[in-house]
Amino acid sequence: MSLVEVAKVEEIPVGKMKGFTVAGKEILVVNYQGNFYAIGKVCTHAGGDLSKGKLEGNVVTCPKHGSKFDVTTGKNVAGPRIAFIRRKTGNESAYEVKVEGNSIRVNV
Ligand code: FES
Repeated sequence: MSLVEVAKVEEIPVGKMKGFTVAGKEILVVNYQGNFYAIGKVCTHAGGDLSKGKLEGNVVTCPKHGSKFDVTTGKNVAGPRIAFIRRKTGNESAYEVKVEGNSIRVNV
């Protein structure tokens, strides 16, 4: 594991998120209430790109079938909805984030 700079603080304002590929890992970095969090960017259900999903508070919704993940922990809080039925899927990985100066660094 090592800390890798992914962005500058000003690149991800409060309430916004951005996807990155870091050391071969697909990562979603989110600014939730002024704190930065990083979780896996590829949906655990069927590979949807969470960076193209919808961020509401601390929950990101996958654009494909609506799975919801807590961006502060990676925990799946609602599974995909297919044919009107909610199914189950796994949690996202969560990565440690450190802000040094105006540099956002993720431990990958
Ligand atoms: S790929 Fe994300 S909910 Fe299906």
